[in-house]
Amino acid sequence: MAGVAVARPLLLLLLAVVGLPAAVGLGVNWGTMASHQLPPSTVVQMLQDNGIKKVKLFDADAEPLGALARSGIEVMVAIPNKMLDMMTDYDTAREWVHKNVSAYNFGGGVNIRYVAVGNEPFLSSLNGTFLNVTLPALQNIQKALDEAGVGDTIKATVPLNADVYQSPKDTPVPSAGRFRPEISGLMTEIVQFLNQSGAPFTVNIYPYLSLYGNDDFPLDFAFFDGASSPVVDGNIQYTNVFDANFDTLVSALTAAGVGGLPVIVGEVGWPTDGEKHATAAYAQRFYTGLFRKLASNAGTPLRPNQYIEIYLFSLIDEDVKSIDPGYFERHWGVMRYDGQPKYAMDPTGQGRNTALVGARGVEYLPRVWCVLNANAGNMSRLADNVGYACSNADCTSLSLGSTCNGMDPAGNASYAFNAYFQVQDQDEQACGFDGLAVRTRQDPSTGTCNFTIQLETTSAAAGRPTVLFTTALLVLVLAAMVTML
Ligand SMILES: *[C@@H]1O[C@H](CO)[C@@H](O)[C@H](O)[C@H]1NC(C)=O
Ligand SMILES: *[C@@H]1O[C@H](CO)[C@@H](O)[C@H](O)[C@H]1NC(C)=O
Ligand SMILES: *[C@@H]1O[C@H](CO)[C@@H](O)[C@H](O)[C@H]1NC(C)=O
Ligand SMILES: *[C@@H]1O[C@H](CO)[C@@H](O)[C@H](O)[C@H]1NC(C)=O
Ligand SMILES: *[C@@H]1O[C@H](CO)[C@@H](O)[C@H](O)[C@H]1NC(C)=O
Ligand SMILES: *[C@@H]1O[C@H](CO)[C@@H](O)[C@H](O)[C@H]1NC(C)=O
Ligand SMILES: *[C@@H]1O[C@H](CO)[C@@H](O)[C@H](O)[C@H]1NC(C)=O
Repeated sequence: MAGVAVARPLLLLLLAVVGLPAAVGLGVNWGTMASHQLPPSTVVQMLQDNGIKKVKLFDADAEPLGALARSGIEVMVAIPNKMLDMMTDYDTAREWVHKNVSAYNFGGGVNIRYVAVGNEPFLSSLNGTFLNVTLPALQNIQKALDEAGVGDTIKATVPLNADVYQSPKDTPVPSAGRFRPEISGLMTEIVQFLNQSGAPFTVNIYPYLSLYGNDDFPLDFAFFDGASSPVVDGNIQYTNVFDANFDTLVSALTAAGVGGLPVIVGEVGWPTDGEKHATAAYAQRFYTGLFRKLASNAGTPLRPNQYIEIYLFSLIDEDVKSIDPGYFERHWGVMRYDGQPKYAMDPTGQGRNTALVGARGVEYLPRVWCVLNANAGNMSRLADNVGYACSNADCTSLSLGSTCNGMDPAGNASYAFNAYFQVQDQDEQACGFDGLAVRTRQDPSTGTCNFTIQLETTSAAAGRPTVLFTTALLVLVLAAMVTML
């Protein structure tokens, strides 16, 4: 307790002296693990319609970057974990920066601000696979950015899961936060490097996951509207797990000698389906509290009176995301798969009953569904066919606690058949299932369970922005060469 009392004024002083940039504007994660994607230009228009100023990507693909050109939106591009090993070679890192960052860095190009080096590379479940490569990759990328002359405005950072730090079991309070013992030396090197290069620490914080699979976790502590049993840490009372988690990191940073290192929250959000706590109602409650908190610029107890820069996870549902962590993984979007809002949300934090602006001009496949043919005689192959459908399409909404759970076996089969039929772009052959399925124009949806119609995606439409952008790039490069001559 005494330690806390001494450390906090010091920390406050440090914060006052260093002064953190007042970064404003909501950020979102734009993931692309969907079988049917909205055209990138539609997504960018949707970001602009909602005043979203920052976007975090999971790669550096030409299509989204092409669509983001001239939008002014700040972009975090990313190097996937599987490429980290390559980036330990400086020439490869330089080439990557050249192709995927410098190429877009011109007036009217893309406003790239960060390069994410890996994505949660130290996640415990990855068994240490990326421990040796992440820091060298980070150093090489920042060096390449510096050498390319963009290092002042574009910073390399590593989005890390909150499991890189913890408090000891016998002192489970934020002020006791330290990096995980087996990676503490490495983390110290990383955060000191980030401090030197002027880059922020990027952390993903998931109150939902504190609750998931932990029935002892107090429900109200996951939200922001008061907790019946707050966590008492010296003279601080924590009433929500977000603040407690964030300040555990702040303590770990302080212990590592960089207590003033800026922190951005690379992912934060709440899923809406696939498990009992993954509901639209809880998501709405979570975001209402989060936005009210952000709008107040209250910061956290250890970093008071400041805006916290966050990127929501996620913008849109992704129906082919891995469900290893849980069925909820495909339902993180604040927007449905088709870019339409799921619930009321007011990012200004005033709690108004407004919704985000949905994607415009969305094109759907025809209103045709595939369902179980009730007149099919022999049902002995039903289970096999449902299994096949669900292993090739998204059936997570059927699981326990989900929007489509509780239907009879026929309803289950129809849901599965339709999911597969839609993923296959309503191909007639995809509604066969040994004669057990039939197409219908009658919407089988129920009050809570949506039998979705997939998006119309034409490769021509999807390819257009890239071609246009590549052309624009070529013209500009040529113009630059002419000027140089
Ligand atoms: C980035 O640059 C490398 C070349 O160094 C290239 O192979 C890669 O496809 C580019 N795009 C992405 C998304 O990494
Ligand atoms: C990590 O180890 C566990 C247990 O040995 C294994 O099941 C899992 O597949 C491993 N994960 C990776 C990414 O290697
Ligand atoms: C990382 O490096 C250490 C020491 O060089 C080595 O023992 C370990 O096997 C390496 N780990 C991986 C995942 O490559
Ligand atoms: C952190 O960076 C600042 C300058 O940006 C520097 O003055 C300070 O010494 C650095 N701290 C550490 C621990 O490297
Ligand atoms: C149903 O079809 C299976 C083969 O698909 C067959 O073995 C079974 O005898 C059939 N049952 C009836 C009642 O016709
Ligand atoms: C429907 O499918 C879900 C998910 O596979 C399962 O939990 C549920 O028991 C099924 N319902 C029936 C009536 O078979
Ligand atoms: C079902 O879809 C409709 C639009 O087609 C939407 O308004 C509604 O919110 C959806 N319901 C659920 C539970 O997703």
